[in-house]
Amino acid sequence: ALADHVRIIEVGPRDGLQNEKKSISAETKIELVRRLAGTGLETIEAGSFVHPKWVPQMAASDKVLESILSSPPSAPHPITYQWLLPNSKGLDNYFKVMGAAPPEQPSGQDSGPASNTSSMDPNAMPAARSGAEGMSQARSDSANTRNGHNHEVSIFMAATEAFSKKNTNCSIQESLDRFAPLMTEAKKQGYPVRAYISVALGCPFEGPDVDPHKVAEIAASLLELGAEEISVADTTGMGTAPRTRKLLQTLKEAGIRNEDLALHFHDTFGQALVNTIISLEHGVRTFDSAVGGLGGCPYSPGATGNVATEDLIYTLHSLGAKTGVDLDEMSRIGKWITGEIGRDYNSSAGKATLSR
Ligand code: HMG
Ligand code: MG
Repeated sequence: ALADHVRIIEVGPRDGLQNEKKSISAETKIELVRRLAGTGLETIEAGSFVHPKWVPQMAASDKVLESILSSPPSAPHPITYQWLLPNSKGLDNYFKVMGAAPPEQPSGQDSGPASNTSSMDPNAMPAARSGAEGMSQARSDSANTRNGHNHEVSIFMAATEAFSKKNTNCSIQESLDRFAPLMTEAKKQGYPVRAYISVALGCPFEGPDVDPHKVAEIAASLLELGAEEISVADTTGMGTAPRTRKLLQTLKEAGIRNEDLALHFHDTFGQALVNTIISLEHGVRTFDSAVGGLGGCPYSPGATGNVATEDLIYTLHSLGAKTGVDLDEMSRIGKWITGEIGRDYNSSAGKATLSR
């Protein structure tokens, strides 16, 4: 097998829905997270705390978070929920909701009420990556844990100046300057921080030839600031096999370890799975995807969805990798959510799975 275990970060509730013009109810978003939590996923990016004028669709993220805190979706094992935010204001808004539900005390008893933990069987699922079981044990008493589930934040910046300005109204350097205090604060409060680098394989404004050394330099800065993981994002889907290989090689030469990397492919040109295989061969073991292939970035004109989680699972399983995620269930969710938001269901693996 090319890989033993691959971790999938499901970004459908955030990246998948943020670009939808038609307003989607908080109930539908909550229901989506609930269904996803039952598939065996370990990590779900469930919403974002960004400016509601910039991204109106994510305005109800506080409702989604409140719902997860007050009645955690049942899941076969602890879930890590991630929340995207662009600045300290976003972190403050996020902490307001988290602070209203303070962490359980590390008193030695089981975390969370029995009704929430009864559905969790840590033996039901293979470990996330080697040591992941130990990692969730170690985290189970920490400040970011609620009802036995973990909460983390993710931040995002861009590899080009033009995209940085459009997406977050600041330069690359200003992004890093904003994140330094944000990350210090998040980590002081016990929250791991994940960091995205957008347009790493192509920019809607500057073209496909984004400098891989710039991506490596930003990744190193973010790790230096304390990021747990760097999600290298092909926002526009312009990434090709040769340029993905070049980027990964450049990151390696700059000393960025595969363990610190995730790849985030949008499938605009249909290259996401090809680039996934290149990344697997390189040693990367974490990938972002969205159920139903939902998504797109509001500030990346023409960009379509993330690679469909169903297609990613099918490919990974065909290579002998374990994801712990149920393809049948994921396909049912893909069909359901695309129906809910009035879109065609376009995941090839999902459609084929449902019709067999
Ligand atoms: P700005 O206008 O420069 O913000 O926007 P500001 O700091 O000047 O503040 C202006 C006003 O916004 C103030 O309010 C702030 O309080 C408020 P006022 O005093 O005028 O009443 N404000 C906020 N309100 C709510 N939440 C906040 C927040 N921050 C300030 N967090 C800002 C700068 C970064 C806020 C804005 O550009 C923004 O929200 N951008 C988000 C864009 C976005 O969400 N893009 C999509 C997600 S990234 C993505 O999809 C890529 C990814 O998937 C990877 C990939 O594929 O590339 C992750
Ligand atoms: Mg994205």
